[in-house]
This record gives sequence, structure tokens and C-alpha cells, in this order.
Amino acid sequence: MDEIKNPFYSTFIREKNILEGYDVYEERKLSDLKGYFEDENERFKMEQKENKIIYRVYKKNVPLHEGELLHCETIIEPGNVNGEFFMTKGHYHVNEKCAEIYYGQKGKGLLVLQNGSEFKCIEMNPDTIAYIPAGWGHRTINVSSDEPFVFFSIWPADSGYDYKRAVVEPFERRVIKFENSYKIK
Ligand code: F6R
Ligand code: ZN
Repeated sequence: MDEIKNPFYSTFIREKNILEGYDVYEERKLSDLKGYFEDENERFKMEQKENKIIYRVYKKNVPLHEGELLHCETIIEPGNVNGEFFMTKGHYHVNEKCAEIYYGQKGKGLLVLQNGSEFKCIEMNPDTIAYIPAGWGHRTINVSSDEPFVFFSIWPADSGYDYKRAVVEPFERRVIKFENSYKIK
């Protein structure tokens, strides 16, 4: 896509957790998160039994140029792998000058941020607006056992995704089910 000449919109359908008018749909199943959970044996067993969707992303396309903005909806299902809550893969932006904003819409989530030896966690509730500064790796986790966690993201179109760095320098904080809530270890 070279340029956008006309304004456009899409609509998030709250009752269905679907973005009406999306261009790209991605789903990440248990099989796509091989190696991401601490208990890999349990993740594999769960995948063999039923390869559940862990999260879905609905995106709009824009040209990947400086000045344009990407935006999407992410829906993380409730669940855990041996107590470790369902989460996104997490990534850094290739362009380290690119920040991002997450806006909580439904459910209860946690945004885990990592920058070298520094960690931050932000609780994401409906209407929480979180700012991810440039250079920070970011991952979201659904910390509810019974409802999806939904959030909206907006970020510069020339950010790029660096998933490899999040594998080489894995997120050191894990988010575990604890009583009716969670704990971070
Ligand atoms: C984009 C961004 C989010 C995530 C989405 C899925 O820069 O941070 O839109 O891409 O929540 O998470 P990942 O990309 O980590 O699988
Ligand atoms: Zn991002």
C-alpha cells in the first residue's frame, strides 16, 4: 500500500469481540507459543488435547511509512499453562525510536515491560491508557480466569516487530495464577 487518500474507520463490536471492517486477522494458538511458557511439557500436552486459540488480533492496513499509524484490537482468551496465564508472545520494536499506546477495553490484564535490567508492570483495566516508551519490550497477559482481556493499540507504522530479541532476552517476569488473582515471579 503506497498512500492513504481517504479517511476510514472500523468498529469494535463489544458483544462479539470482533473488529468489523478489519483488513488482517491473526490468531495465535497453543502451538504458536512453543517455548514461551515455563512448563513446555504441559503446553505441549494441552496442544495435543486441544490446540486452543490463546489470542486474536484484528488490524487495519496502512502504508508502513514514517508519519502513518498502525492500530489493532487484541483479544486474549482466559486460561493458563500449569498456572501461567495466557499471554502474547511479546516483542520489541525494530525501530527503537517508536513508542506505543495501549488502551484497555474489557477484562483484566497486565502489561509487562522490560528494558535491559529494568522491569515495569501496569495493570490494565477497562479505560486504562498505558504508554510504552520507545525501546521497551512489551507483553500482555490476561489475569482473569473467566473472561477475555481486550485492548486497543496504536503505534507508528514504521516500528516493525522484533520477536527474536524477546526470545534471546526473554521476559524475566512470569505471571502466575494465585488464589483468585495473580502473582508475578
Ligand atoms: C504492536 C503491539 C500489539 C501486539 C499484539 C499482539 O506493536 O504491540 O498490537 O502486536 O497485542 O502481540 P504480539 O505482537 O506480541 O504477538
Ligand atoms: Zn508493539
